[in-house]
Amino acid sequence: MITKLITFIFFYSRLAAANNLYPKYHLSPDRGWMNDPNGFCFFNGVYHLFYQHNPYSSYGPGIVHWGHAVSTDFFHWKHLPVALNPDQWYDDGGVFSGSCLVDAGKMYLYYTGNVYHEGETPDHSQYQALATSDDGYNIVKYEMNPIINGSGFQPDLRDPKIWKHGDKYYMVLGNSFKGESNETLGRILLWESSDKINWEKASILLESDGRLGYMFECPDFFELDGHWVLLFSPQGVKPEGDKYKNLFQTGHIIGDFSYDTKTFTPLYDFQELDHGHDFYATQTTLDEDGSRVVIAWMDMWDQNYPEMDQGFAGQMTLARKLKLGKNGILLQKPVKDIDAARGRVLHSGVTRGGKVIKLVNNTAEILIRSSPLLNLDVFIESEGNQVQISYDHQKGTITLDRGGKDAVRRTNWRPLGKLTWRLYIDSSSIELFCGNGEVTFSSRFFPTGPVSIRLGRQSMIDNMTVRSMKQTV
Ligand code: FRU
Repeated sequence: MITKLITFIFFYSRLAAANNLYPKYHLSPDRGWMNDPNGFCFFNGVYHLFYQHNPYSSYGPGIVHWGHAVSTDFFHWKHLPVALNPDQWYDDGGVFSGSCLVDAGKMYLYYTGNVYHEGETPDHSQYQALATSDDGYNIVKYEMNPIINGSGFQPDLRDPKIWKHGDKYYMVLGNSFKGESNETLGRILLWESSDKINWEKASILLESDGRLGYMFECPDFFELDGHWVLLFSPQGVKPEGDKYKNLFQTGHIIGDFSYDTKTFTPLYDFQELDHGHDFYATQTTLDEDGSRVVIAWMDMWDQNYPEMDQGFAGQMTLARKLKLGKNGILLQKPVKDIDAARGRVLHSGVTRGGKVIKLVNNTAEILIRSSPLLNLDVFIESEGNQVQISYDHQKGTITLDRGGKDAVRRTNWRPLGKLTWRLYIDSSSIELFCGNGEVTFSSRFFPTGPVSIRLGRQSMIDNMTVRSMKQTV
């Protein structure tokens, strides 16, 4: 018995030590694969976050399930059993992404049932389905599923996001269609319902003219500070200078919307929401104070990151509060409950070039306040790996270079007043928030040992505070 116990402890402590890429305060699956956030909601005093999940392997989504975790502060997460399994004729090729409507004291989980047709063209079709829960934990699929069979819109019709307005319910869905020259183009459809079950197509909110690619995934549509935000993940956007360098993008169009005509009138062009390597398939919800909070999958399709060999893949970004900025920009700030994850202060004060600070547990919150007229270089280093984040005051750019293949991401940014940065490091991720959150970078990195941060020789910081972060997951 004792020998068994010792072997057990030895095995699990080795597993934990080997899991050095596993995040300390970001949500990641307890095992297996994770992609998109799903069903993000606040229900009966608790935040529920479902996600695309393969419980059996970290090497890909497989026939995808819905994983499930709960939190009261977006940092301490409890893993729950798989919420939705691919066990019906209309979802046996995967329980794809969807969202949660909290209404009349119940959870309504809308999702896409994917079905494969091997050897046929097209080789899949997608249905919209419903599952409900009275308590947030026992989840039952609706007997009469699917609720939208999508004929006329196949084969790519997915990722329903639902909200209520007055006594009506609305749903946005990602879709693709054939353009004039038979090319495939992305679009977002609006559907409406009076009873949450029977849905009619209401309008087309947005169509790609080719520049925005062939499919729009994970649409979200909400009012923010007097305008409307259409947030989505287009596939097939061609790189253009420093823009659109990831395999797929996530971004938004700010505009106005009329419930009478069901039309969306863009006021600005499409803008990427984040400038890092790993930010996709966002979903928003209202927090307990009624503020709009966004979360994204901090990863990207087809990356084969080294964590897969450690038994897990994928993680979520920090939850970020959204505000509408100027010129069609969205401002993102970590939610205030980040306090719950803050550890002890490792360094604080004026900081000169060359300074090295060893992190604790490869985690940190780094707050920087500095002159906008000086260049700044911060290196995040372990033995075999280096990430450099630089501000070039002459060019007005920020560059994140994580080394290796496809290393550099860059965007324009000029601080209003002092340069202020908030930088979050967690085992294998970096999130940078600039100024009021008008520019963010979210990128994965893969340290091979203890991480230090080092200030470039020419840099000089008026005030830099470095804290460790607690282990909350
Ligand atoms: C986005 C996405 C969704 C789909 C899901 C499948 O990353 O492709 O469009 O529902 O992932 O896992």
